[in-house]
Amino acid sequence: MKPTRIAVTGAAGRISYSLLFRIAAGDLLGPDQPVILQLLEVEPMRKATEGVGLELKDCAFPLLQDLIFSCDPEIAFAEAELVFLVGAQPRGPGMARKDLLEVNAGIFAAQGRALNQVAARDAKILVVGNPVNTNALIAIRNAPDLDPKNFAAMTRLDHNRAVSLLAEKCQVPVAEVSRITVWGNHSATQFPDLIHAQVKGQPALEQVGWDWYEKEFIPTVQRRGEAIIALSGKSSAASAAHAALEHMRSWVFGTPPGDWVSMAVISDGSYGITEGLVYSFPVTVTNGQYRIVEDLAIDEFCRRYLAMTERELLEEREAVKDLL
Ligand code: NAD
Ligand code: LMR
Repeated sequence: MKPTRIAVTGAAGRISYSLLFRIAAGDLLGPDQPVILQLLEVEPMRKATEGVGLELKDCAFPLLQDLIFSCDPEIAFAEAELVFLVGAQPRGPGMARKDLLEVNAGIFAAQGRALNQVAARDAKILVVGNPVNTNALIAIRNAPDLDPKNFAAMTRLDHNRAVSLLAEKCQVPVAEVSRITVWGNHSATQFPDLIHAQVKGQPALEQVGWDWYEKEFIPTVQRRGEAIIALSGKSSAASAAHAALEHMRSWVFGTPPGDWVSMAVISDGSYGITEGLVYSFPVTVTNGQYRIVEDLAIDEFCRRYLAMTERELLEEREAVKDLL
């Protein structure tokens, strides 16, 4: 079978240390699909990346057909079909993700240009490096020959956090939770929506109550990344790698009937969100193409949250306008 070319940036970093091994083991594309990993790092991390490369080889993964490493994005992205843009600085204690814009934004302009030149024309490109929504917007604008729908930013970790918290509260297996949406920015303004969510096929809110929803659930999901940094001193890594895998699996293999996932994608104006912003929506996927779920009822409560997170994204866009 023809191997799939998968590019991963930030290959010597913490997320990649989990992500690369799981891709090579078949957790992304299944046990029959060979892969070629194309790693990108910065020059000072060359030796560290070579070390990761030796470990990947030492696993003797049957599916890992080739391993390419470069500090040149045009080599690492050549003909890549699936791309994980992980390489970027993480935040530390006391920082907001948007504080990273100044240091990380330039990376996504350069990588957008390289993807534009050499990636497969139907590549699926997932931005994981923070702040994800605006970094994805920068990459899109710097890749004018690629369809903006080739790009997405990761809110799947927030989505998974919401699923897990709700399942725990209702004391049901996570598989009983459906129709969760995280709307907007991957930041503390995100809107984790239980209005449309279900537990065992019944409205979630009826089972948990408004008080818990507003006072516990929303702020816990919004601030989970921060809580992990406060406890461990480092940002999430294994859960982020898992979310990246799941996001890409949904994008490649589709979403289950009757359910959807959260993906930050280019807004087409759905739900009144400014066209062209990268905003997290509920999406379904069929044949590798995502569609924003239409016609969910948006009441005043939802509208206020949707607008708040949109406002923050507009401010972020303004801050990087020179790169767009
Ligand atoms: P890390 O510091 O461990 O690794 C980042 C790696 O990226 C480093 O090895 C660095 O050398 C490399 N890098 C920097 N600039 C690069 C470039 N131009 N090209 C290629 N590689 C480059 O960080 P991490 O913990 O792996 O996190 C990576 C990013 O993911 C951070 O921005 C973090 O905030 C973000 N993150 C996002 C989510 C999410 O839910 N969207 C979750 C967790 C982390
Ligand atoms: C997360 O949500 O865990 C990541 O975005 C890392 C962070 O900075 O919070």
